[in-house]
Amino acid sequence: RIPVIFDTDPGIDDALALALLACHPRFELLAVTAVFGNGPVDITTRNARGLTALFGRDIPVAAGAPGPLRDERRRADAAHVHGDDGLGGLSASLPAPTRPLDARPSDQLICDLVNERPGEITLVAVGPFTNLALALRRDPTIAAKVKQVVVMGGAFGLRGHAGNVTPVAEANIMADPEAADQVFTAPWPVTIVGLDVTQEAIMRESELAKLRGRGQGAGDLLWLATRHYQQFYDARDGIGGIYAHDASAAAILLVPDAFTLRAGPVRVVLEGIATGQTIQDWRGEHGSQTPWSGHPAQQVCVEVDAARVLALFDEIF
Ligand code: BDR
Ligand code: CA
Repeated sequence: RIPVIFDTDPGIDDALALALLACHPRFELLAVTAVFGNGPVDITTRNARGLTALFGRDIPVAAGAPGPLRDERRRADAAHVHGDDGLGGLSASLPAPTRPLDARPSDQLICDLVNERPGEITLVAVGPFTNLALALRRDPTIAAKVKQVVVMGGAFGLRGHAGNVTPVAEANIMADPEAADQVFTAPWPVTIVGLDVTQEAIMRESELAKLRGRGQGAGDLLWLATRHYQQFYDARDGIGGIYAHDASAAAILLVPDAFTLRAGPVRVVLEGIATGQTIQDWRGEHGSQTPWSGHPAQQVCVEVDAARVLALFDEIF
C-alpha cells in the first residue's frame, strides 16, 4: 500500500480525491491536513474532518494555514464554484468527526509523520501549497525524507488549456504563488498534475450518477455535492459533468502509466500581469543562467488517458 498524507481545501473535487485516497485498497491514508482555499480554513477543516468520518477513516486531521505566505495576496474565496460551505451545501449532512482535531498545525503534523517514516511517505497536495512551504520552513530536512510530492496545480498552456483564475494562472497557484515556487524548487521530487491534464479528465453526469447508492451514504453525498459543482462548469464550459482536478493527483499514484510526463525545473511568476503562471524549462542542458537553472527537474503531466483515471471510481466503496 502507498502511505499518503493528503493536504487539501475541501472543496468538492477534493472530496472525490479523498474518496479515492481513503477508500481505495492500495492507499494507506495516514492523515489529512487542511488549508485555506476553496473556503476559509475553519470551513475546509470542518469539511476535511466530516469527510474523513464519512469515508470511515479514524485518522488525524489538522488545521493549517489560514492564508498565503504573503498576506496581501489574499483574494476572494471560491464560493461561486464550491458553495458557501465548500461542499455545495452538503457539509451539514456530514457525520460527526470520530476524533478531536489534531492539536498540531498542519505543517507540524506533516513534519512529525515524515520524520517517523523517512523515505516512505508521499504528500498529495491539492489546495494552495502554503502548508507544504511552512513544513519545509519548519524542518528543511523533510525534503530528503519525503518519498515524493504530487500536486494538483498549475497550467502550462498545452493543447489550448489556459489558466482558470487568469488566462495563465490556476487557482491553487494563484492563492499562494510564493508557496508554490518554494515547493517546486525544493530538493524533493514533485509531480505536477495541472489543468492541462485535469481538464481532460471530465467526469460526466452519467459517471457521477454511478456513485449513488454506494459506500453507505458516501456515494450519495458525493453525487449531491457534485450537482453544485457541475452547474458551475456546465454554465462556464458546457461539459455536462465536472473536471476531476484533485482526483487526478491521487490517480497518478495508482495508474502512473496513464500519464505522460515531461521533466525540467518549474518556476512560478511572482509579479506582474502573469502572476501565478507556472513555467517549466524542459529544454534540457542549455547552460544559461536563468531563474530555472540550478533547480531540481520536476515532472509535469502533459497528457492523460482520462478513462483510466475515471475507472478508478469503480474500485472504491
Ligand atoms: C483547483 O482549485 C480548486 O478549486 C479545486 O479544488 C482544485 O484543487 C483547480 O484549479
Ligand atoms: Ca482543491
